[in-house]
Parts: sequence; C-alpha cells; structure tokens
Amino acid sequence: MTAQIIDGKIMAQNLRDELAQKVAHLPTSPYLAVVLVGNDEASIIYDRNKQKAAEAIGMKCKIHHLPEETTQNDLLQLIDNLNHDVLVNGIIVQMPLPKHLNSNEIVESIDHAKDVDGFGIYNLGLLHANDSSAMVAATPQGVLYMLQHTLGNLTGKHAVIIGRSNIVGRPLASLLLNNHCTVTIAHSKTVDLPSIVSKADIVVAACGVAKMVKKEWIKEGATVIDVGINRVDGKICGDVDFDNVKEVASYITPVPGGVGPMTVTMLLNNTLRAYLNQNSSLKK
Ligand code: GUN
Repeated sequence: MTAQIIDGKIMAQNLRDELAQKVAHLPTSPYLAVVLVGNDEASIIYDRNKQKAAEAIGMKCKIHHLPEETTQNDLLQLIDNLNHDVLVNGIIVQMPLPKHLNSNEIVESIDHAKDVDGFGIYNLGLLHANDSSAMVAATPQGVLYMLQHTLGNLTGKHAVIIGRSNIVGRPLASLLLNNHCTVTIAHSKTVDLPSIVSKADIVVAACGVAKMVKKEWIKEGATVIDVGINRVDGKICGDVDFDNVKEVASYITPVPGGVGPMTVTMLLNNTLRAYLNQNSSLKK
C-alpha cells in the first residue's frame, strides 16, 4: 500500500481563488497589518509570503517592521493605533518576539475583533466553548480543512496529536473535539508514544523533531498530517518519516507542500471574516 498524497499546494490555491472572487466583490479591500520586531530570518520570509499572498487575492497588507530594540511600550502604542484604525481589519504580531518583550501582554492588547491569529484568550475561550464565532489559529484550521476534505465526516475518529503548543496542538485538539473526534494529545513527557499513536485513525505530528514519527507506529490505513518544518542537511523535512510512513498510511501530507500553504490561506480567510464582521451590512 502506498498512501495518497494530500496536496496542500493545490488545496490552498483553490481556496485562494475562491477568496479572490469574494474579495473582488467587496467595496473596499480587507486590510491585514503585520507587526514584525527584529531580524529573525525565518520570520521575515514568512511575513513577506503572507504579504504576497494577501496582495495576490486583492487584500491590502502592510508589514510594520520594527527594530530589535523596540520597547514594550512602543509596541503597545503601535497596536493601540492599529486597534483604532478603522481601515485595519486584522492584526498579527509575528512570533517569536525578542526575549525582552512580554508576548502575552502584546497578544492580549490586540482588539479581539482584529485577532486574526486567534492567539488571544478571548478567541481561545470561544474555541474551547465550541462557539463558531471564534477566530481560530491558521495552522489548526488548515489541518482541519485538509482532514475534512480528504475523509469527509470526522465523527468518531480517534485523532492523536503529537505536540501541545498554544499555536497548534491545543487549538487543534479543541477543533477536532468540536468535530466529534476522540482526541488524545501526546507530548514530550508521554509514556510509550508508539503504542498510543498505533491506535490512531488520524495522526497529527506537531512535535518539532525531524522524522520522529515512524512507520512501525502507524495503524495501517491511518491518515497522517505533518505540521513540522525542519531543516536537515540543508533540506526541509517534516516530523514524519515520510518515505517509510507512506507505505502504511492511506493519506499523508508532504513537507514542503502540505500544511504550510494552507496556513497562510487560513490567515487570509480569517482576515476576510474579520472584515465582514466589522462591516456587518455586507454579510450575506
Ligand atoms: N510564528 C509561527 N507561527 C505563527 C503564526 O501562525 N502567527 C504568528 N503571528 N507568528 C507565528
């Protein structure tokens, strides 16, 4: 058996085409403000990609690139200005922030109606309470979309998520629970991870360790979603030992070209949702 590849690039492009059509019919452009502090190379590339993707579907996107030595108060002041700017619909602050800044306070300072990363406590609370008005973090939303469009109804499926981060593991657990999966969250202190993963219909690897998830752990016919992005000998690879795991799984995402392109797309979708919420007369 060789797994079918879940092609995140094609899925993301189809969704972006749909978003572009919706944006083309709006009276004004949805506007995403990206705040980037310091010179982390990966963050600069991620944010340029977000800007390019936003502009390609007709959205406005401005990157506020601040120096490494920016103070907490300066950053809070910028966010306050963006919160009050009626033209700005969505605000994200690229993580990680430099160590001298208090990222929790920064995230909580974003108006929850503009929190298109869904990182703030208000939106996390809505997600936890299964309230569909929650703004949900982009990566877990991308994973859910890929699963639903591959497997259909997820009711009753046993999902094992490896990783308990605030950005992926925890919000994804809520999303899958809200979609009637039985959810197990495994993490670095989990005892006998292989036996837990071997029970899963759906495995989501978000542990940040290159090729950690092995073929022997996977139940035959399971669906495997790889959220990892690691660089090994100059090559990008995921958290799943792809070449071997694909021999037992039914469906599997590649890295690159899997979850990554879906994440940016879901951020743009959140920005459109925020725009429509803030211009409620335009909602259908
Ligand atoms: N750093 C890694 N992933 C993300 C993300 O989804 N949003 C932001 N703001 N920072 C990140």
